[in-house]
Amino acid sequence: MNFCVVGVGGIGIRHVESFLSFRDSHVFCVDPVRANQPPPANTVFFETVGGLPSNVRFDAVVISTSSRPRLNLLKQVCILHPKMIILEKVAFTSCYEYETAMELGKRYSIPIFVNYAWRYADSLFPILKTSKRWSVFSPGSGLCCNVCHFLDLYRYTFGFVPRNVSISRSGDVYESKRRGYFDFLGSADFSADEVGVSGRFDCNRGANGFRIETDTGYSIQGSDVLPLVSKTTARCFQEFIEGKIRLPDLDEDFMTFRIVRDEMARCGGWDSQSELPIT
Ligand SMILES: NC(=O)c1ccc[n+]([C@@H]2O[C@H](COP(=O)([O-])OP(=O)(O)OC[C@H]3O[C@@H](n4cnc5c(N)ncnc54)[C@H](O)[C@@H]3O)[C@@H](O)[C@H]2O)c1
Repeated sequence: MNFCVVGVGGIGIRHVESFLSFRDSHVFCVDPVRANQPPPANTVFFETVGGLPSNVRFDAVVISTSSRPRLNLLKQVCILHPKMIILEKVAFTSCYEYETAMELGKRYSIPIFVNYAWRYADSLFPILKTSKRWSVFSPGSGLCCNVCHFLDLYRYTFGFVPRNVSISRSGDVYESKRRGYFDFLGSADFSADEVGVSGRFDCNRGANGFRIETDTGYSIQGSDVLPLVSKTTARCFQEFIEGKIRLPDLDEDFMTFRIVRDEMARCGGWDSQSELPIT
């Protein structure tokens, strides 16, 4: 099978690992920065999408750059007619970009999915499935980048996103680990009355590190959670391509984006009609 990963940074390398775990896979990578470094075994690197061989039909192409170059890259990738495209979450920063991307998917008849692998992380799934009240404490990590995962977890677990999401900003907007992108500290409360489940995702500074606790007594600490999430990411695409698991499509991610954008605009101080400067 032929795979392509566009943007081989922190998360993109996980997708390369995932595709390499197929027997007989050919993994093509595009990254102008990584192209000059020694490639991981059994991969071949290109500087641009335009440099990829035109006679290869890709079974899947992943675009795992940060969000700003994504739409332009998507246009270039569609021309290659891959069987499917997977985008990193949150896929885009504005409604215009979502609408253009959905139009491209239709025009080229290419299914487009968005990577919310957290829904399959063994460490996170039990928080909704088995408890009525959960808390995730993630000191120092950004709200913008993470809230979408919890909305998706609800959708995956119960089939709907909670109507009541409330974000409280407690810290200044800061430049995230991805240059030119912003995030802030605070907490997000989710409550889904239909199923009587509520929870809090807390991104304030604190001494105790990443931890998850629920009213059922489930509790897990940072050093145990993170390898589980990382392992899930690496295995996710393999299982997705094999049809064992499902990832949301662009329409579903657009719904998530709008909830995050509106709530962030309400408490974050930026204009909800403009681009959301995250991810
Ligand atoms: N689903 C998840 O759990 C998860 C986890 C982490 C990050 N993400 C998302 O993945 C995206 C990337 O995050 P990251 O931490 O890997 O970022 P990163 O900065 O480590 O990697 C981005 C890579 O894209 C490359 N790139 C930039 N422009 C490019 C272009 N035009 N063509 C090809 N490559 C290009 C960069 O050189 C870099 O290597 C973000 O949108 C982030 O929100 C998702």
